Amino acid sequence: DWVMHDHVAEAVAKIREQVGDEEVILGLSGGVDSSVAAALIHRAIGDQLTCVFVDHGLLRLNEGDLVMEMFVGKLHAKVIRVDASDLFLGKLAGVSDPEAKRKIIGGEFVTVFKQEAAKLTSAGAKGAKWLAQGTIYPDVIESGGAKSKKAVTIKSHHNVGGLPEQLGLKLLEPLRDLFKDEVRELGVALGLPHAMVYRHPFPGPGLGVRILGEVKKEYAELLRRADDIFIQELRNFTDQSTGKSWYDLTSQAFTVFLPVKSVGVMGDGRTYEYVVALRAVQTSDFMTADWAELPYALLKKVSGRIINEVRGINRVTYDVSSKPPATIEWE
Ligand code: XMP
Repeated sequence: DWVMHDHVAEAVAKIREQVGDEEVILGLSGGVDSSVAAALIHRAIGDQLTCVFVDHGLLRLNEGDLVMEMFVGKLHAKVIRVDASDLFLGKLAGVSDPEAKRKIIGGEFVTVFKQEAAKLTSAGAKGAKWLAQGTIYPDVIESGGAKSKKAVTIKSHHNVGGLPEQLGLKLLEPLRDLFKDEVRELGVALGLPHAMVYRHPFPGPGLGVRILGEVKKEYAELLRRADDIFIQELRNFTDQSTGKSWYDLTSQAFTVFLPVKSVGVMGDGRTYEYVVALRAVQTSDFMTADWAELPYALLKKVSGRIINEVRGINRVTYDVSSKPPATIEWE
């Protein structure tokens, strides 16, 4: 529409004026905010933007490839993909406390990002001068107020306080005045696919807090495949009365890996394998949330597919806890 069209033109003009002919770095996560910021800045200044995409190995199935396909394949943006999964898994070995895991993942993320950024700024006069972040208006308010420890860590690794100063870079935050809905509309106006712009939030530590206790590569691989089936079926199942998919009818949905084994039966043999929990909630602010009343047919399809297709998981449960007192994530 015309209003959004004007917004894009205005935002593009503002970025060009701010940045001039200088180079910009942006930390791309694949989430809505950094994706829209990247698409907008790329529209404004093209190859003066370099995105750094740190893959910590705790992303969803094929997520890294999809990010590259979109930004490099379709938008022709410059993206440096850093595969740091072994580094992260190594640092997480033997660690089971949720907050300790968050600290490690957040800390390593910043270290890896800084190393890449340092390479891009070191080119002297031609080096990058700006750090772009997908900070949106609610983040600005949030970081001003007192919040729980967990809330403070929420945006912490993509919008890192103090990072621009440490890197000697100026801060570019083109989404700073926008609410989430406006960011989504902007994303659509920039040609990003609906599925990317309307995706559920995904925590920075990723699967690191959805594998309970110690994170292991084997667990992450099982979880990724189970979760992909859950998400596919949420997208496939349409609610008759609203015409919407269950993915769009839920605010956040994901699978949690429980590192315990339970007994099952297959053919004439006994199995002894892992358990996963499906979690789906409806909420307007993520401060309180109701568990979603997903149709039994959907749950049945998902559990059947996970147990049949993911060798190593023989039991699927559904989480019927609301927030409070439960939290949305299990860690
Ligand atoms: P809880 O589990 O506290 O989650 O009910 C509320 C919302 O916050 C997200 N969340 C995080 N996001 N880093 C993030 O970027 C984190 O460490 C983190 N912990 C929770 C969660 O996914 C939900 O949307």
